[in-house]
Amino acid sequence: MPDRLRDAVSGATVLVTGASFGIGEATARKLAAAGATVLLAARSEDKLDELVRAINAGGGHAVSYPTDLSDEAAATALANRITDEHGPPDIVVSNAGKSIRRSLHHQYERPQDFHRTIGINYLGPIWLLLGLLPAMRDRGAGPPPSARHRPRPSTTCSTTPDRASSAGSVASHSHTQVGMAWR
Ligand SMILES: NC(=O)c1ccc[n+]([C@@H]2O[C@H](COP(=O)([O-])OP(=O)(O)OC[C@H]3O[C@@H](n4cnc5c(N)ncnc54)[C@H](OP(=O)(O)O)[C@@H]3O)[C@@H](O)[C@H]2O)c1
Repeated sequence: MPDRLRDAVSGATVLVTGASFGIGEATARKLAAAGATVLLAARSEDKLDELVRAINAGGGHAVSYPTDLSDEAAATALANRITDEHGPPDIVVSNAGKSIRRSLHHQYERPQDFHRTIGINYLGPIWLLLGLLPAMRDRGAGPPPSARHRPRPSTTCSTTPDRASSAGSVASHSHTQVGMAWR
């Protein structure tokens, strides 16, 4: 598996959102160890800086982009900045998100939680990808040269605003789903 990951991402530029903790952090570490340049986005600047230091000290290449992705202007600015500084990314791991872990009967008085969840799980990836996709498509983004013998992947964003969402997944497993794909 590590060799397959290396074949797929070595030399690629990969944007990982939600990289400060959890699944996103672990994903960023694995991608960097497999030879990708990883661009790390989340709100916690200190955590991102720590991760950048660890990856770069280990011979990898990581850059931190502290951003609140639920803020449309900030997400759009991030897309522009990344495109200016690195060119369009080859891969976007749209993982940033939050889950509502309370039982439903504890949510009756907390509509704000649903607004926040929709903001980051649903609208955040849309603002970011609307900013990134034009340049990615113009450049014909896809696998890095080392992986070009394989079928061209589609780039897909699949998000749901409920606790079943997995922003980094392309699995379609819930209602209220938004998908973006091109081939
Ligand atoms: N773990 C599970 O079992 C599970 C199950 C279903 C779905 N998921 C989904 O999988 C993804 C990762 O899960 P996880 O368990 O690793 O979650 P986590 O530990 O809570 O990490 C979530 C990440 O998203 C970032 N994030 C949250 N709000 C953000 C915002 N407004 N702007 C930018 N970044 C933001 C957080 O960083 P900051 O706080 O620093 O911004 C953090 O890096 C999430 O989308 C989650 O909903 C996870």
